[in-house]
Parts: sequence; structure tokens; C-alpha cells
Amino acid sequence: MKDESRFLCPYCATVFDRFVELRDHVMAEHKTASAPVPEGLITLTINGQMHRVQVEPEWTLNYLLHDQLGLTSPKMFCDRGACGSCTVIMEGRPILSCLSLAVECDGKTIVTAEGIADAGHPLIETYVKHHCMQCGYCTPGFVTTAKALLDKNPNPTEDEIIDALGGNLCRCGTYPQHPKAILEAAELLKTMERGKSDVDG
Ligand code: FES
Ligand code: FES
Repeated sequence: MKDESRFLCPYCATVFDRFVELRDHVMAEHKTASAPVPEGLITLTINGQMHRVQVEPEWTLNYLLHDQLGLTSPKMFCDRGACGSCTVIMEGRPILSCLSLAVECDGKTIVTAEGIADAGHPLIETYVKHHCMQCGYCTPGFVTTAKALLDKNPNPTEDEIIDALGGNLCRCGTYPQHPKAILEAAELLKTMERGKSDVDG
């Protein structure tokens, strides 16, 4: 894991290497704001990179990821836990980032669709191949849910896939395509695993 700790100003998103630099910046540049206190500092590992971030108590995880850290895949759609477009994987489980407070995620490991793509996961290829998106707004939420499913269950049935995707809504009606892409990604993962064992001997 890369340790690239950084301290993000909650008011202007300037990044600092040290907490004391962040505190001095806030006191100098945002005079009407409260000075940061260590209690507002959280550490998260996001897509394999460690982040130390000063957060406000009301920030959701979605706001932190999307608006502060520039990870745009967790989409804000309903903002009430009803659509799944903001899904990310936390500690191996799909969670709704619009309903999770950032302060509650201190110490957690998070994976977003950016991390899944960067890791070269076959879901990206099969989602494209099977045309699983029209406008694409819901797609990162489906992909993160699918990744968490395959990590837990490498041989899902179509019914298990449909069940796992039950919390993800798509206004463009792409539903029939997702099980096809996920079943093919499961096969590709097995082929990759076999290739790895052959190389390892
Ligand atoms: S935006 Fe989070 S569930 Fe809809
Ligand atoms: S592809 Fe448009 S909402 Fe799903």
C-alpha cells in the first residue's frame, strides 16, 4: 500500500503534507472558520492509497470522496439510500456512501469504481462488451456491487446476481445486461486464476 498521507483543507481543498501546515493555513486564510482540531482528522485507505483528511461532522462519505477527493464514480442521485448509485466497497461490503458519515469511516478500507478499473478487473471489459450502460450514471454503483459479490461468491447464479443488484436502480433500463456481464467476468476471473497457478507451478 502506498502511504501518501495528506491533509485536506475543508474550506478550499488545498492539500498539505503536515497537519500543522493545514492548521496554520486555516487560521490565516479562513479567519471566520474554526481552527482544525485533531479529532476531525480521519485516515482512510482508498483504492490502495492512504489519505489523512480533516473532515467536518456533517460530511457524508459521498461528499468526501466525490467533492473533496475528486473521485467522481460514486454518484449522487437520490441522496436517501434508495438507488445505489453512490455505492462503494468498504471493508469488502457494498455500502451507500450517501448514508455514511465520513467521520464514521475512520480507519476503513474503501474501493471505488476507479480502483476497480485501475486494478484491471474484468468487470470493466465485460460491462463495455455487454452494453450495460446508456447514460452511465448508475454504472459505477452496479460495478462496485458486482465486484463485492464476486469477491464473496466467485460462482454466482443469475438469481444470486439479480438478488445482489436489488438495491441498484437504472432509469435507462439496462437491467437484463448486468447478469450477462457479471457471469462472463466470473469466468474470466477463473481463467486468470488458472493462468496464475500455472505460472506459479
Ligand atoms: S445516492 Fe445514495 S442510494 Fe441513491
Ligand atoms: S444507464 Fe442511465 S441510469 Fe443506468
